[in-house]
Amino acid sequence: MLLLTLGTAAGGGVPQWNCACPGCSGARAHPDRRRSHDSLAVLGHDPSSWFLVNAGPDITDHLEAHPALRPGAGEERTPVVRVLLTDAELDHTLGLLRLREARHVEIHATAPVRAALRARLALDTVLTPYTTLTWHDLPPAGGRPAVVAGIEVSAVPLSTKRPRYAADAPEDGTWVVAARLHDPVRGTTALYAPALAAWTEEFAEEAAGADCVFVDGTFWDDEEPKRLGISSRTSTGMGHLPVDGPGGTAGLLDRLPARCLYTHLNNTNPLVDPSAPQHGLLARRGLEVAQDGMVIEL
Ligand code: MLT
Ligand code: MN
Ligand code: ZN
Repeated sequence: MLLLTLGTAAGGGVPQWNCACPGCSGARAHPDRRRSHDSLAVLGHDPSSWFLVNAGPDITDHLEAHPALRPGAGEERTPVVRVLLTDAELDHTLGLLRLREARHVEIHATAPVRAALRARLALDTVLTPYTTLTWHDLPPAGGRPAVVAGIEVSAVPLSTKRPRYAADAPEDGTWVVAARLHDPVRGTTALYAPALAAWTEEFAEEAAGADCVFVDGTFWDDEEPKRLGISSRTSTGMGHLPVDGPGGTAGLLDRLPARCLYTHLNNTNPLVDPSAPQHGLLARRGLEVAQDGMVIEL
């Protein structure tokens, strides 16, 4: 399978329209530092068969930016778009509304995510006059996976964190999951976890057996959101393990044999500046920061 990193930013992107912090100002001055909302495209063995993991507000710009995702000459407009969701957060789902030109949109998600999108964001009501929506269960890893574009897909449960618009919905351990992508032809596995609230035993096991792991890189350290005044909570309190410090993911990922890349970077994260010394710290541990537009063959 081929993985294309369409975007690598947390909610708001880099720069964020209403922010002038060093990360946002830096990206305005240096366009190569711009990051769009995190999303992944996965190509199976047939190059015309691909699917998305998460669909943020930039999704149709992403599809247009990658020749492999554009309709071929003489073909009809891309008739079916398949999307896997890791959660129901707006930065991962608002793009579903932008896919209305498709003839058919197939959404693979866990039960609470499907319920939130249908009952609270009214996706069926809004999109059905434009396209056909089909909802599929994203089954738990370890059981029988779903097959999308020839890739076996399943969910590693991560946390009960609900989006703010569904804060009163019932708690369920599959509100936030890592997408597990297994290529049965090559025998390779990738995990995509842009929101990692806790290093659970199951995630650790899955990560130990994976070839490539994308991990939550929202904040560099636990105090960052409080220190910079964007929240009264720590990074962990917001459902994002920090990269650095005690309990940070850098010290856990560097033990894995997999290629590990950080994604879902917030504009406050020093890693959005390519000259920040934090890049050296990660490089010494063999860890990478994903960039928009990377191609990874597994
Ligand atoms: C998150 O990643 O924690 C959410 O996307 C936050 C948000 O609502 O912007
Ligand atoms: Mn987010
Ligand atoms: Zn900013």
